[in-house]
Amino acid sequence: MENEVKLTAGAMVTFAIAVTALVILPFIQVHDVKAPEGLKPYTTAELRGRSVYISNGCMYCHSQQPRSESFAPADAKRGWGRASVPGDYVYDRPHLLGSMRTGPDLLNIGVRQPSKDWQLGHLYQPRAYVPGSIMPSYPYLFDVKDKADPDEQVVNLPPDYAPQGKVVVPKPEALDLVKYLQSLKRNYPILPPEPQAAGGAKTSAAPAPGKSPAAS
Ligand code: HEC
Repeated sequence: MENEVKLTAGAMVTFAIAVTALVILPFIQVHDVKAPEGLKPYTTAELRGRSVYISNGCMYCHSQQPRSESFAPADAKRGWGRASVPGDYVYDRPHLLGSMRTGPDLLNIGVRQPSKDWQLGHLYQPRAYVPGSIMPSYPYLFDVKDKADPDEQVVNLPPDYAPQGKVVVPKPEALDLVKYLQSLKRNYPILPPEPQAAGGAKTSAAPAPGKSPAAS
């Protein structure tokens, strides 16, 4: 009987340690993170585009988490932007951090490639813009018709990729998705975290009265 008690107690202690390390401590660290000043909440259209991004599995090939230079120097060299901080994701529910990088990181694609025309054309046929691209095309987000309606935008494809005698027009899902991609910009400045005193208490960033800034 004694062994069963030890086994159960051991399992419970292991479980408690795991919950503390993986749930409680991370929650304490990030639960009151505020949105940085430069970060805007998503608009309704951008949120619809975000759902299109999720339902088409874009995150299986694209991460949204550039890493710090010390950890992964290549990220900054590729132009993926500064290392992300928890505040960058305040409006992201669910988070789309991703773990696979078959394609480039997209947290700053709105900075890197702001062109709506390019984004639409690339979704219709990635190989029209990036020869040999292994990204799937998403033709079902577009209509191919003889003539566009007056209020419709025609996707400007490179000549070899445009269907003969037809025009390609984006469906609302494609337009929303591109609005979402254009909104992915985390290039506003972020302040370094406040310095912590030895006891863990926050120290004031401003110098104490009577002290010169150089002495503090
Ligand atoms: C099978 C993996 C895969 C999937 C799924 C995928 N992509 Fe890609 N994506 C890539 C690869 C590889 C590239 C790089 C080559 C290129 O630009 O076509 C890329 C490039 C891109 C780029 C250009 C990035 C840059 O820095 O120039 C964008 C934007 C993009 N993908 C958006 C999407 C969206 C939106 C979806 C979902 C609708 C998606 N991708 C799904 C693999 C994928």
